[in-house]
Amino acid sequence: MRSLIPGLRQIVVSRCADEMPLAVNRIIDNVSEIIREATVEDAWAIATVHVCSWQAVYRGLLPDEMLDGLSVADRQRRWAEVLSQSVPRRATLVFCREERVLGFASVGPQRADGADPEAGELYAIYLDPGHWRRGLGARLYAAALERLRSDGFGHAVLWVLVGNERAIGFYRQAGWTPDGGQQTETGPDEVPLNEIRFRLTL
Ligand SMILES: CC(C)(COP(=O)(O)OP(=O)(O)OC[C@H]1O[C@@H](n2cnc3c(N)ncnc32)[C@H](O)[C@@H]1OP(=O)(O)O)[C@@H](O)C(=O)NCCC(=O)NCCS
Repeated sequence: MRSLIPGLRQIVVSRCADEMPLAVNRIIDNVSEIIREATVEDAWAIATVHVCSWQAVYRGLLPDEMLDGLSVADRQRRWAEVLSQSVPRRATLVFCREERVLGFASVGPQRADGADPEAGELYAIYLDPGHWRRGLGARLYAAALERLRSDGFGHAVLWVLVGNERAIGFYRQAGWTPDGGQQTETGPDEVPLNEIRFRLTL
């Protein structure tokens, strides 16, 4: 598998005890980018990316009515709640360019009854649709995977909506393979979300 960090010229990874556990900085052509741990103040920006990305990637896969009705304010409330809680080995990272949040990823222990403590999960990775397929997702993904590894997970799973070929292509290229797991989650407006599970050794 080839590198998931194309064009990397400068990278600094720092781990501090207090407010900023992970930060990845790089500067290319005077444009600054940072991947850092999200705070409650990022809830609105994350919610905006989340809604825009859902509306773009799930168009044609999920009902228009549900997608058009997604509310940034609702998602902001939920993200603010998530980000205000400190849960061991759980993290949400944001990718910022010139201080604007363009994407987020969230990781932590596998969500399953009786899950192996060695098993992590990539809960979500979403980029603003205007920035897909330019290598940003790969950089955010690399930081999320590094977070899972440094939190001691030996392997990880993720769930992807059946038919989300963009994400499936991205995950396959990164080495993830389907492990046969399937589930139907209940989405907004009670819409069923048929998902398949992928797995990766970290
Ligand atoms: C999935 C996502 C995070 C990937 O980020 P991205 O910035 O678009 O992807 P990258 O440009 O970093 O792609 C890295 C590599 O992944 C593979 N890849 C990316 N998109 C792909 C696609 N549509 N089809 C096949 N392979 C793809 C390619 O090998 C690519 O490298 P290349 O462009 O040099 O060929 C982004 O597209 C996204 O936010 N999608 C919508 C939200 C989503 O579906 N999230 C996952 C929910 S489970």
